[in-house]
Amino acid sequence: MKPWPDNEFLKGYYEPLTAECTAPDLVIEGEIPKDLNGTFYRNGPNPQVPPKNDYHFFTGDGMIHAFTFNKGRVSHKNRWARTERFKIEQRTGESLFSGMNPLETPPEYLDFVLTDKEGVANTSVLLHGERMLLLEEGHLPFEMDPDTLESHGAWSFYGKLNTTMSAHPKVDPVTGELLFHAYMATGPFSDDMGLYRVNKEGFMVESYVFKAPYSAMVHDFVVTENYILFPVMPISGNMDRAMAGKPPFAWEPELGTKVGIMPRDGTPEDMQWIDGDPCYVFHFMNGRDKGGVITLEACHFDSPPLFPMADGTPTPPNIHPSLSRWIIDLNAAKPGVKMEYLADHGAEFPVIDPRYAMRDYTHGWYTSTDRSIPAGIPGSDVVYNAIVHFNVKTNQADRYAFEAGYVSEPMFVQRNASAGEGEGYVLTCVYDIPSNTSALCVFDAQNISAGPLGKAWVSHRVPVCFHGTWRSA
Ligand SMILES: [Fe+2]
Repeated sequence: MKPWPDNEFLKGYYEPLTAECTAPDLVIEGEIPKDLNGTFYRNGPNPQVPPKNDYHFFTGDGMIHAFTFNKGRVSHKNRWARTERFKIEQRTGESLFSGMNPLETPPEYLDFVLTDKEGVANTSVLLHGERMLLLEEGHLPFEMDPDTLESHGAWSFYGKLNTTMSAHPKVDPVTGELLFHAYMATGPFSDDMGLYRVNKEGFMVESYVFKAPYSAMVHDFVVTENYILFPVMPISGNMDRAMAGKPPFAWEPELGTKVGIMPRDGTPEDMQWIDGDPCYVFHFMNGRDKGGVITLEACHFDSPPLFPMADGTPTPPNIHPSLSRWIIDLNAAKPGVKMEYLADHGAEFPVIDPRYAMRDYTHGWYTSTDRSIPAGIPGSDVVYNAIVHFNVKTNQADRYAFEAGYVSEPMFVQRNASAGEGEGYVLTCVYDIPSNTSALCVFDAQNISAGPLGKAWVSHRVPVCFHGTWRSA
C-alpha cells in the first residue's frame, strides 16, 4: 500500500496499526490487582488503507482491542471489524469511500454506499443480550464474537431495526433493558430520529421514528428513571450543502439547542421541545430526575472542534469541553435549560459506575488535560493526558496526569459484588510518546492522584480509540 498521507490524525498516537496481533502475556509494571478479572474492549478508527481524500478520524475502519485480565496477568488482542466496506477495500487494495460524504464515491460503488448496512463499526462496543455489538452511528450495529473477535456482520434485532443506531445506548441497571436512539435515521442528512427499547434478553419490544427540529448530529442522549432526553445541538447535516461541495456537516449556532423530553412510559407524541443556548456535547455523564426536575452532567463545548462553519471556514481551534450541569424544571410555566460549568478544567469521555446509571449518583471519571505538560503535537493542545475522578455531590476533582502520555476513555470496574458506588478500579489505555508503545493502566478508582497501581505494557502502539466496555470473567 501507499504511505500514509500528511494528516495530523494519521501520525504518532493516531497512526494506524497495519497488523492484527495476539500477545498472550503482557509485561507488568507495578501490580495488576488479582481480583480484577475480565476483558476490557476498546473500539477505534484504524484505516486499513490510506484514505482517498481528506481524512476525518471519525471515519477509519473499526478495530477492536481486547485486554483480558486473569489473576494479575493481562493479554492483548486486536482485530479489524471485517465490514463489507473493509472487504471491498481489502480486495482492491485502495481507498474507495469518503467517510463524511457518501456522494464522493466512484459511480460503480454509489449504490453500495447508499445501501450499505455495516459502515465502519468504529465508535463503541456494547455487550447486551448475549451479543457483542460494535456501534458506529450511521449504520446498523455490527456483531463480533467477544472471545475470538471474529466478525459476524450487521445485526438488525431479527429484522426489527431498519434505521441507524447511535453509538451511545443506555442500559437500565435495574431492569436490564437497553434504550438507544438514532439520528438521520432514515438516510444521510434526514431529520428523522429513532427511539428503540430492547428487553434484557435482547429482543426489540418498541421502536419509533419521529422528526427532529432540524437535521443534526445527535451523538449521545440521556435517560433518567422517568424521562428520555434528545439534545439536538447545531452540528447540522445538509444534503444540498454536500451536493454543492460545501461541508456536509457544519457548526450552525443560529439553529440553537433544542432538547426533546419524553416520559419513559410515553411515546414521541408526548415529546416537548425545550430551547437552550447553542452549545455542543458529544458525551453526557449521567442524568436523574426528581419531582419533575431533570439534572444531568455534560462535557460541554461552547462551540465544537472538528467541524467547520457552513461556508467552510474553520471554527476556532484547540477548544476543550468542560463539565457542566444542566437543570430542566418541567414544573416551570415555560421550562428552559439552565447550564452551569462545574469546573474550569477539561472534561471529555465521561464514565460512571454503571450500577448508578439514570439515577442519583456521586462518582464520575473522565479524561482531561494538564496544560503545563507540552502537547507534543505541533500547533495543537488538544491532548488528553490526565484522568480525573469527579464527585458530583461536592464538585471535588482528583487528578493524575501522565508526563508523556495520552490517555483514553476510562472504564470503571467494581471491586466485587458487594462494593459500594465507585469502589473498584479505573482502567485506561495510555499511549507512551517516548517509546511509541501503549500501556493499560489500572488505578484505584477512589485514589486517582496516587497514580496507576499497575501497568500492562503492549510492545506496540494502541492507536486512538473512542469507547469501550467491560465483560466480567
Ligand atoms: Fe462518543
